Amino acid sequence: MTDSRGLPDAAERLSREELAALQLQRLRSTLRHAYDRVDFYRRSFDAAGVHPEDCRSLADLARFPFTTKADLRANYPFGMFAVPQAEVRRVHASSGTTGEPTVVGYTERDLDTWADVVARSLRAAGARPGDKVHVAYGYGLFTGGLGAHYGAERLGCTVIPASGGMTARQVRIIRDFRPEVIMVTPSYMLTLLDEFERQGVDPRSTSLRVGVFGAEPWGEGMRREIEDRFAIDAVDIYGISEVIGPGVAQECVETKDGPHIWEDHFFPEIVDPLTGEPVPDGGHGELVFTSLTKEAMPVVRYRTRDLTRLLPGTARPAFRRMERITGRSDDMVILRGVNLFPAQIEEIVLGTPGIAPHFQLRLTREGRLDHLTVRAEARQGATPEQRAAAASGIVRRVKDGIGVSVAVEIVEPESLERSVGKLKRIVDLRPKGAS
Ligand code: DLL
Repeated sequence: MTDSRGLPDAAERLSREELAALQLQRLRSTLRHAYDRVDFYRRSFDAAGVHPEDCRSLADLARFPFTTKADLRANYPFGMFAVPQAEVRRVHASSGTTGEPTVVGYTERDLDTWADVVARSLRAAGARPGDKVHVAYGYGLFTGGLGAHYGAERLGCTVIPASGGMTARQVRIIRDFRPEVIMVTPSYMLTLLDEFERQGVDPRSTSLRVGVFGAEPWGEGMRREIEDRFAIDAVDIYGISEVIGPGVAQECVETKDGPHIWEDHFFPEIVDPLTGEPVPDGGHGELVFTSLTKEAMPVVRYRTRDLTRLLPGTARPAFRRMERITGRSDDMVILRGVNLFPAQIEEIVLGTPGIAPHFQLRLTREGRLDHLTVRAEARQGATPEQRAAAASGIVRRVKDGIGVSVAVEIVEPESLERSVGKLKRIVDLRPKGAS
């Protein structure tokens, strides 16, 4: 599928009308495949009184029931698979920090599709055949490492399968092997930044040209920080295991205006997270995906819990974009009636002089009230006056911008725990079961 000169592939050049026709055909066959082969879908479609044949237009999809993470858990481990186990070439699983992990499976053709969409993503990010790609997403049950790996090979790149962790060695490899591209979580990229500085190496002097960052939310402030400190282009890659893994959507380097969704394989909808009603393009809500080509584990109207909105395509006009994820419905903190996302605090902390791009949100309960403390790290050499000004500046900007009072604690440089993969921003110290 990929073009050796690094040009968009045929699907990327479809017109909107051609794409819609392809989507409808693939959607109908996915609904049939799911209904015929997976007990769960047969039961859930029957209960909702819909049949795959009822889908005659893309809008008809809204008549079908949702699939949630709880449904995947209830069918743990392989109950959602639509092909005999011998046709499943690989499985991955989500971390499962809350209860049972969710398992996903791929046929040979699914793995091929996945490599294609990651290759397409890398190309849109500015990678080219012949580039060396340093993959520092974790290898294993997590989809990040292996997903990135096969996509980079598919594009014709040289893969450096570093995986996560062993930070000093990562820096050494980047210095010695001279990759042009790095794929890693943005929070781990900041950990690498500290290590470059610790080794006395100017991070702007590396061979890196492009960073492809995802698996966790990150905002424009973080983009500026990473681009300036490393002298690279930083672009956003979105993915979710249940849909395929990394490579569901990718931001183009020439526009940096949010990821284009590879809609020939993954059909997006936005719904109201509370009522489940469809939200028209441009409106905010929860992102829902239906896979269009997956064999081993098709998903129908899968609720991602990610909050965003759909926008028209720009650099790839056939494909709609999603605004960068501002948060997940389960990351939302409700503080004295005000909804707050870690991404909003990130923008404020990263715009504060004297403060490093490292912070943690600590939730506590005093009496019957929840309290939020923003613990932000001082930059090396920040004076006591700068620290005090930063603390009061953050308090004021959170109050003015988000409308809630928080406490701010400025902590010593390099005192907060560093990420080696997905970062956990919120430390919840409230008594369990009390909310
Ligand atoms: O994180 C897949 C991935 C790997 C994506 C490497 C990109 C790079 P999961 O572990 O299933 O899969 O987690 C999926 O991570 O629902 C989002 O909440 C979050 N997420 C992924 N990419 C982004 C992004 C992988 N670019 C969950 N921005 C998703 C914000 C992201 N959040």
